[in-house]
Amino acid sequence: MTVITPAVSHEVRLVERPEGLPALEHFAVVEAPLPTPAADEVLVRNLAFRVSASIRMMISEGAEAVEGVPFPALAPGDTLAEQAVGEVVAAPAGSALMPGDLVSHHLGYREYAAVPLAALDRLPQRPADPIVHLGHGWTAYAALTRGVQIPSGATVFVSGASGAIGSMAGQIARLLGAGRVVGSAGTPAKAARLTDGLGYDAVVLRGGGPFVEQLTRAAPGGIDVVLDTVGGEQLAASVAVANPGAQVLVVGALSGQLAATGAGRTAPVELDSFQLLLKKITLRGYSADDDPQALPEWNQRSAEWLRDGALTFPHERIKGIANAPRAVVDTIGGRHLGTVVVEL
Ligand SMILES: NC(=O)c1ccc[n+]([C@@H]2O[C@H](COP(=O)([O-])OP(=O)(O)OC[C@H]3O[C@@H](n4cnc5c(N)ncnc54)[C@H](OP(=O)(O)O)[C@@H]3O)[C@@H](O)[C@H]2O)c1
Repeated sequence: MTVITPAVSHEVRLVERPEGLPALEHFAVVEAPLPTPAADEVLVRNLAFRVSASIRMMISEGAEAVEGVPFPALAPGDTLAEQAVGEVVAAPAGSALMPGDLVSHHLGYREYAAVPLAALDRLPQRPADPIVHLGHGWTAYAALTRGVQIPSGATVFVSGASGAIGSMAGQIARLLGAGRVVGSAGTPAKAARLTDGLGYDAVVLRGGGPFVEQLTRAAPGGIDVVLDTVGGEQLAASVAVANPGAQVLVVGALSGQLAATGAGRTAPVELDSFQLLLKKITLRGYSADDDPQALPEWNQRSAEWLRDGALTFPHERIKGIANAPRAVVDTIGGRHLGTVVVEL
């Protein structure tokens, strides 16, 4: 199969490091020569890439000093990076990859990428819509099966419920046996979508009053499991409302990452440790990357759930790389629900 390629590729670059939250002028869509793959690299035509609000912490001042974050720090002039799906244009001889094969890698925000063989996954089947491979459902699944155990009928609280992880987590928690699922979101419109088919029974609101009061009303029997993607006041409130023996899993820190000031890499919170002690609460940080065996299990179970209509994949599709900077700014501004994808 011969694939005809253009001479140039468009990509999104960081113009300057923002102070506070980024705006459109911090990014530029530029034309660059088509990348020339090295001997151990694959030339990939990207079909789509994910946009995540957490990129903010990798473009702010001091990003290179952060340890333990699985994304690269970005400096002015760098091309942004995120999970992408694409098709192989050319692969090294003997690599087992063929032009047209569907692959996943981390060099999004560009139309064409030269991806090291070692940094690329071949996707087994070509689904009707390849963007399903950009979802964060498996992160939610790994967290809710490996990070915590959901007792049958438990009340689960998911903070950041309208995000890529949270919009899958409510549905998955219910499928795994939760009795009541409560989320948090930024607007009543998002709350309505979350309670209308995305697994949530009730949603508390950022800016809707003290979280302890909101959570006490939304979870009158207390909270047994917390999947926290936000931190800050929401984490403190969930500990206050937690039942004895509750499991609190911290998977994200959106309250810090998306704070209006600072670099987005701290999420301080005042926790009543006496509550942890008295209620014997388990509190731990968790990364899905530590449980890679959850991925094939998720692929199999989610395919069944999607086929049966038990699960949906909420996402926003944005067309064209020219609209990628706007997608970043809007995702950080909380103007989308679910996984945000730029389609090329
Ligand atoms: N542990 C892991 O394995 C793992 C893997 C991937 C990502 N993560 C982390 O998990 C977290 C969630 O990721 P995601 O991809 O689901 O996020 P996302 O989709 O990028 O989340 C964007 C959402 O954040 C909310 N938001 C905006 N400003 C906020 C603020 N000041 N405080 C709280 N929420 C705010 C908005 O929703 P509302 O306006 O509705 O609040 C917005 O829609 C991030 O911290 C990410 O780094 C963890």
